[in-house]
Amino acid sequence: MKILGISGSLRRDSHNTNLVRAAAELVDGETELELWEGLKAVPPYDADDDVAEAPAAVAELRDAIAGADAVLFATPEYNSSIPGQLKNALDWVSRPLATNPLRNKPVAVVGASTGAFGAVWSQAELRKVLAAIGARVLECEVACRHAAAGFDEHGRLVDGEARRQLQEAVEQLVEAARARNEARTPASVAA
Ligand SMILES: Cc1cc2nc3c(=O)[nH]c(=O)nc-3n(C[C@H](O)[C@H](O)[C@H](O)COP(=O)(O)O)c2cc1C
Repeated sequence: MKILGISGSLRRDSHNTNLVRAAAELVDGETELELWEGLKAVPPYDADDDVAEAPAAVAELRDAIAGADAVLFATPEYNSSIPGQLKNALDWVSRPLATNPLRNKPVAVVGASTGAFGAVWSQAELRKVLAAIGARVLECEVACRHAAAGFDEHGRLVDGEARRQLQEAVEQLVEAARARNEARTPASVAA
């Protein structure tokens, strides 16, 4: 089982990237959670560039999503929404809509912010965007509030409640991915 982790923050010491790293430590032994680190290289969406041979960073992202059983997104809140670069990357991934790699893919959205609300608005925004793209968006929510205190000096998640919610979200994601894989495996192969 392979989960791709995408953080919406480009910042070196990003709490959201650390949230993805924390999730990678919480998966079961049969699951690998890999952090995708190519967000900064994705160019601005331009339909004129959206041709058969996509820009390298876009092709890499599309392939990474296609090769994963599920995707975990961690997003900060920027002005009550998601960071522009994350939205831009998703705009690239969404085309062509009918065959994009997120279509029917189980995805979970979590988030951290330094404020009191734990990026709940941006998580809701991201769920809306992912649903529009056709992903199978899970109901779970991990709102890591006051993130500066929620991680230690090494970037490890020490907020017990957020950790518990994250564990639950990851388990739900793995379960959804397993169910989808089983449904797609022909009975003759599964037997
Ligand atoms: C441009 C910008 C806009 C922001 N807007 C919000 C906001 O609307 N609500 C909020 O709770 N935090 C807001 N913040 C604070 C970020 O959520 C906080 O800095 C968070 O830690 C960023 O995530 P990161 O640590 O993963 O980089 C904003 C930060 C920036 C840079």
